[in-house]
Amino acid sequence: MGSENRTPVIIPLPEPRLEHSETSLNRVAGDAALAGAGMPQAAGLVPEQWLDRLADELSEQAWLELDLSARLPDGLLPALLNEVRILERTDAMSRAGIGRGADRVKDRSVRRDKISWLDGYTEPQARLFEFLNQLMAGLNQRLFLGLKRYEAHYATYQPGDFYKRHLDSFRGRASRMISLVLYLNDDWRLEDGGELQVFTTSDEPQPLGLVRPEAGRAVLFLSEEVPHEVLPARRTRYSIACWFRQDEVPLPL
Ligand code: OGA
Ligand code: MN
Repeated sequence: MGSENRTPVIIPLPEPRLEHSETSLNRVAGDAALAGAGMPQAAGLVPEQWLDRLADELSEQAWLELDLSARLPDGLLPALLNEVRILERTDAMSRAGIGRGADRVKDRSVRRDKISWLDGYTEPQARLFEFLNQLMAGLNQRLFLGLKRYEAHYATYQPGDFYKRHLDSFRGRASRMISLVLYLNDDWRLEDGGELQVFTTSDEPQPLGLVRPEAGRAVLFLSEEVPHEVLPARRTRYSIACWFRQDEVPLPL
């Protein structure tokens, strides 16, 4: 093509706000006892005792709510939020479907969010993947799930969007085993709605818990066991959903 077509397409990149990440990567997340033990993990983001508690709660009650703001490198949450906002502005988010392959349907009565898969290539995503790798290794050591990989997507819910009660995986498929949802929203107020409702593993209609999608908050649960639902948001709601999987090559959900 002619040289007049060389005008570059400028995609605004997220501001690198990770200047302090070297130090925070080496920190043992405020755990004096562990620091004294002298054997922090390679990058030290995920302390052993914290993983012990996670694994205990997961096996006892199948889900837990977490605050990851102290576990993630400084500046990572705003950098991820910045990135998903850019994806949203550049129309890179696509309507989410339900199921995979030939079964995939886009049923707006079930879910209305838009998603964009993470590939780990941008700096914020690489930092997040570092954390997810450590989390996966730690869970494998404790729960013997044989988790091999994970997949993660950004999700945006516009005002009025929801995701009706569902499970993330069907029993016996051994695909998605553990779900993690990390929220990216600053100053989420009660009137903004969009809470995640977590239900018991039985059919009871009463929710067990209600999680506000506030930046740094996260939920971890067994994908095949825990029904959950995203209530209608009244303000744009940003999150990352991640699934730790047992299969090496993708199987249908
Ligand atoms: C999902 C999901 C929950 C949330 O994407 O499967 O349940 O709070 N997300 O965003
Ligand atoms: Mn889900």
